[in-house]
Amino acid sequence: MYLLCTIAASLISFLFLKWLKRRRFCMDVKRLDGKTVLITGGNSGIGKETATAMAIRGARVIIACRDMEKAEKAVREIKATSHNLNVLHMHLDLANMRSIRDFCKTFLQREKRLDILINNAGMPSVLDWTDDSFSMCFGVNHLGHFLLTNLLLGRLKECAPSRVITLTCSAYKYQKLDFQDLNYNLFPFFTYCRSKLANIYFTQELARMMEGKGVTAYSVHPGYVQSNWTCHYSILFRIVMQVIMFMFFVSCEAGAQTVIHCAVADEVTAHSGGYFVDCRCASLRPFAKDAGVARKLWEASERMVKLA
Ligand SMILES: NC(=O)c1ccc[n+]([C@@H]2O[C@H](COP(=O)([O-])OP(=O)(O)OC[C@H]3O[C@@H](n4cnc5c(N)ncnc54)[C@H](OP(=O)(O)O)[C@@H]3O)[C@@H](O)[C@H]2O)c1
Repeated sequence: MYLLCTIAASLISFLFLKWLKRRRFCMDVKRLDGKTVLITGGNSGIGKETATAMAIRGARVIIACRDMEKAEKAVREIKATSHNLNVLHMHLDLANMRSIRDFCKTFLQREKRLDILINNAGMPSVLDWTDDSFSMCFGVNHLGHFLLTNLLLGRLKECAPSRVITLTCSAYKYQKLDFQDLNYNLFPFFTYCRSKLANIYFTQELARMMEGKGVTAYSVHPGYVQSNWTCHYSILFRIVMQVIMFMFFVSCEAGAQTVIHCAVADEVTAHSGGYFVDCRCASLRPFAKDAGVARKLWEASERMVKLA
């Protein structure tokens, strides 16, 4: 009897966890031959999985990474899995504005096309600073991608219809932006939430500015994914998280699906500026839809990265 109850409880728990981890998969089989896709942080986790999917569909794929050894290894693996030799890497450190400017200069000289830009790279909640003295999360996750996208916007417009996809997180809802202290870095998790809220405002304002110009923008929450984000923490935290992630988080393949959907599906273009979860346009908390805040953040970001 005891054995039967244990088996039944295990089976119920297994089915419950499976139900909890269910995700929609992108069913659109569109090919991307002749298109160029740029993915930041494409050497790891969701980014690498997305890069592989783009390469399988025939795109020229460029992964922009800060660690050249990891990038070379990822390129070899993506080529082997996709059977597409049109995959390459370039150096980009989003924690350094000079590196972003140098990257864009080289990219624009070398590459004639940019059809899909995927702002994927991200730092989890760590208490650290970028080379330009921005809090690491806000600097890499928002400001780095803000500068990168702006410097590449001309090429995206030339290649229209083109798309910009930015990875955000549903944890955006736990914080609001403080314009007196955008560089806030007191509690790292809150800094992370703010950077992910900034990704959402950035996408909305970009979509508004690009209306009628053929460039559409989407923010994506990939779900909670068993990627390599824990590598920034202590060994003890990593061990605990491995167990939690195994039970509750989805695979990188599942996490990449909404990004792939926003990159290829025709129906998403009707929702430019939208927030996507599980391959569908999802609703946001009212404060995250404030166009005035989105505009204000854009202008503040321009000043912070010295874009003007
Ligand atoms: N995993 C989740 O549960 C989850 C949930 C919601 C949202 N997201 C978002 O999904 C995106 C992808 O994350 P992931 O889960 O796939 O994490 P990951 O496996 O840690 O990948 C992050 C990528 O970003 C790169 N990166 C970090 N700092 C960089 C910098 N300064 N310059 C250039 N590249 C940099 C990393 O490069 P290195 O390999 O050199 O460190 C790595 O390639 C992130 O934006 C994250 O916020 C993830």
